[in-house]
Formats: sequence, C-alpha cells, structure tokens
Amino acid sequence: MADILPFPCPPAAPLSQRSPHDEPAPRVYRARGLTRTYQSGESEVCALRGVDLDVLAGEFVMLLGPSGSGKSTLLNLLGGLDSPSSGELVWRDLDLAHASEAEPTLYRRRHVGFVFQFYNLIASLDARENVERVTDLVEDSISASEALARVGLLHREHHFPSQLSGGKQQRVAIARAIAKRPDVLLCDEPTGALDYPTGKPIMRSRSRASS
Ligand SMILES: Nc1ncnc2c1ncn2[C@@H]1O[C@H](COP(=O)(O)OP(=O)(O)OP(=O)(O)O)[C@@H](O)[C@H]1O
Ligand SMILES: [Mg+2]
Repeated sequence: MADILPFPCPPAAPLSQRSPHDEPAPRVYRARGLTRTYQSGESEVCALRGVDLDVLAGEFVMLLGPSGSGKSTLLNLLGGLDSPSSGELVWRDLDLAHASEAEPTLYRRRHVGFVFQFYNLIASLDARENVERVTDLVEDSISASEALARVGLLHREHHFPSQLSGGKQQRVAIARAIAKRPDVLLCDEPTGALDYPTGKPIMRSRSRASS
C-alpha cells in the first residue's frame, strides 16, 4: 500500500501563510475506507484497501509506494476517472463515490488538471495544439503560450510528441494540466522522466498551482 505524505506548500501557498491561531483550511477531499478491486480472470486484485485520506485546501500531498501499490488507482479515483468498489469519496460537496454519470465529467472539466503517468498527448497534434485542446474548452484558462512558457517549452510549440524527448512530452502534459488553472492538480509520476534541473522548477510551479 502506498504511503501518503501531506506537507504544507512552500512560501507562496496559503497553508504556509497561516498562523497556528487561524481556522483550519477547508477540507477539499475526504476518503474513508476507499477500496478498489479489479476482477482479473478468476481472481480478484485488491488495488486499494480501506484508504482514509483528508486533503486540505492549499495542501501539497505526495504518494510514495512501490510499483503496484495503488498510486495511479487512487489518483484515478480522486480525479473522477474511476469509481471505488466501496467506501466514501467526497470532493468539497460532491460525492464522487455515488455521482451520476455526468457529474464526474463536469468535475474533471471544470476543476481537475491531470498529468498522466504516460502523458496521454495526442500524437497528431503539436505541443501548442495539445494544450489548446484544454484551453479551448475552459473559460478563464491561461493561454497555451503562457502554459508552455512556464514549463520552458514555448520554443518547441510546433513540435509533435514524436519529435520531443520523454521529459519534454511530460512537460507538455504539465502545461496542458496547468493551463486551465485547475482547483486540483493531480500528477502521476510527474517528474519521473525529467532530469533534476528541469524537474525542480516544475515542482515549484506545481506548488504555486496548488494554491
Ligand atoms: N484495470 C486493471 N485490471 C486489473 N488489475 C489492475 C488494473 N489496474 C491496476 N490493476 C492492479 O492494481 C494494482 C495497483 O495498480 P496501480 O497502477 O494503481 O499501481 P501503481 O502504484 O500506480 O504502480 P506504478 O508505480 O507501477 O505506476 C496492481 O496490482 C495492478 O496490477
Ligand atoms: Mg502508476
């Protein structure tokens, strides 16, 4: 099972500006007894077993765990891409465990930025067009140029995914996720393909986004 390590954001984020006398930050996610099982032929795989989790506004949370411990499964549930087999999962006032069919789609579109483990870029679109697929759908997004500039890839805006290294594809995926200014940014192994000098500023920009 993966470990869940919450810690306050660096200086720009709200939690770090709070004094111990402030009211607690509002809770964004609440999970209780969250369980996800998969049927695999005759056998059942238990990817998550009874996860309890609270995430507060402004918090930056890392999931650490070995391969197969359920990190992607939990992110998919938090992002409304999948439903739990049992347990409670609430985002603000939205019951994600019992949502109607349309609700998770709206939730994802309006509130969630997702950086997938395998990037999920569209091969036939260049970097700018991949980001614009999101900015065109959302009011109040930042421009595709600004998002690509934030990850240091504006000069590669007309390159297709196949012309970019794995790390650069991942940065386009991060630009796509932050462009719509999501309330929640969920990143699955977000800097796994990035070298340290590249990953560090992107982790910083993610912490700013978590505010
Ligand atoms: N669609 C599926 N059908 C059957 N089993 C699955 C499915 N998706 C995930 N699993 C199983 O659930 C468990 C958790 O998988 P998950 O992908 O969440 O792990 P992870 O921690 O993200 O691993 P990694 O670090 O390799 O990305 C694994 O045993 C995996 O084989
Ligand atoms: Mg994974």
